[in-house]
Amino acid sequence: MKKSIETATNERIYIFDTTLRDGEQAPGASLNTEEKLKVAAQLEKLGVDIIEAGFPAASPGDFEAVEKIAKSVKKTIVAGLARAMKKDIEACGKALKHAKRPRIHTFISSSDIHLKHLFRKTREEALEATADAVKFARKLSDDVEFSAQDASRSEWEFLAKMIETAIKHGARTVNVPDTVGYTTPDEYGRMVAYLRNHVSNINKAIISVHCHNDLGLAVANSISAIQNGARQVECTINGIGERAGNASLEEIVMVLKTRADKYAYHTNINTKEIYKTSRLVSTLTGFMIQPNKAIVGNNAFAHESGIHQDGILKYRQTYEIMTPQEIGVPESRLVLGKHSGRHAFTKRLEGMGYTLDTTAINALFERFKELADKKKSVYDEDIEALVEEKVFSTVELYQLNYLHISAGSSTLPTATLKIKKGEVEAQEAATGDGPVDAVFNAIDRCTGFKGKLENYSIKALTQGRDAQGEVTVTLGLNGDEANGRGVSTDIIEASAKAYLNGVNKLLLKNGKKSAKAAFDIQKGLKL
Ligand code: KIV
Ligand code: ZN
Repeated sequence: MKKSIETATNERIYIFDTTLRDGEQAPGASLNTEEKLKVAAQLEKLGVDIIEAGFPAASPGDFEAVEKIAKSVKKTIVAGLARAMKKDIEACGKALKHAKRPRIHTFISSSDIHLKHLFRKTREEALEATADAVKFARKLSDDVEFSAQDASRSEWEFLAKMIETAIKHGARTVNVPDTVGYTTPDEYGRMVAYLRNHVSNINKAIISVHCHNDLGLAVANSISAIQNGARQVECTINGIGERAGNASLEEIVMVLKTRADKYAYHTNINTKEIYKTSRLVSTLTGFMIQPNKAIVGNNAFAHESGIHQDGILKYRQTYEIMTPQEIGVPESRLVLGKHSGRHAFTKRLEGMGYTLDTTAINALFERFKELADKKKSVYDEDIEALVEEKVFSTVELYQLNYLHISAGSSTLPTATLKIKKGEVEAQEAATGDGPVDAVFNAIDRCTGFKGKLENYSIKALTQGRDAQGEVTVTLGLNGDEANGRGVSTDIIEASAKAYLNGVNKLLLKNGKKSAKAAFDIQKGLKL
């Protein structure tokens, strides 16, 4: 297999994105294979150096996703995670077989607390497992990364021994995670500096860091590690990940870019793709971005107070340290209305960075006209939602054809709807605690779906009273989870679409069950 990364240069920082592995481990963030492929394609556009695609030994679904991503990614390194065990490493090697630039990422813990209570291994046994795992992984790939899990809570002398062992047996990247988000910038920086000074073969590998955000220090810790010699950072889009999440990719990249005067490092990230990637991950995982989130939050570039607005109008830099254009925020201007033609619509799509074929544009234009009939002002966000719905949505098993609601302060909320599967249409009515509950009950009756609603959220896509509502739901069924999303000027319809989208995904999860099989295992439409 080909060599995957050159030896560390002084100033280049390699961005290892683990949105699809650590990020996807966040409770409620599960993605199906098709969604992971979309994220991987966007990460490649963003310019990350390494995509950690998953943990192949964890489940057949994970294996399949890593395998498909490995096949589809063109030039970026694709990594798979494996415990320091032969069977995990073998699964990883197999899943990455078709990757142009495969990396096996194997790990064991270095802290006494993990070794004693989690792995039930002595330090000597852990060193032996490190050597065996790295040696075996190197037989399957030239590019092997080793992680000493819980490094930040380990005795430094022992950690150094473990890292030295991993490098000796062929690890080309050595990662020292702050697994539980416990360390602080000065302590973590000193740990990285200690490793540089006490691991005799350290110049044969790249030092990598991987920080969790339990104390809100993940980005600060990563930057401090870079200043002390780390040249790879592991991070996720929007900072999603286990518990409080991982270091956020967009924050690390923009710290290095915005404060280039202080930090003489660069990444390969095309920052203009940040906003789009952030939106995609948020949409697909159903994890909304808090308005005040650094870099990608809705308010990140909003100036509310009079003094600030005055300053911005006079000279932007008075209150802006970076521009929305740098991260690719589309200018939220009024673009089109019901009198706009196909040409203007196509031009706007192009302006927003979408290259679509005529069939897709025609379908979208029809939807745009329907929307413009309901809504006077059509913004970029509305167009983005149309594209996501029409072009990027997963195959729909069931489709909403008709919806009628009866609700009010002294009426029993009732929903009547028609759902289509192929050419077959079914109708159901149900009552509920409120109109949304009534809709969900009617969909359950129609499809025989017996899952659980784990999460429901709603937000306005744009400003104004005619704004479209975007509903995101998380549904669970037999231990599986899926997110659904729906957008409409009517929030009850948006709720119905989101719920049905989640039902469809759960039934088609991982693409293993055919639409027909999925239909057969459910009660099916009542005809
Ligand atoms: O947080 C952690 O330590 C990890 C490792 C498996 C790299 O995710
Ligand atoms: Zn982690």
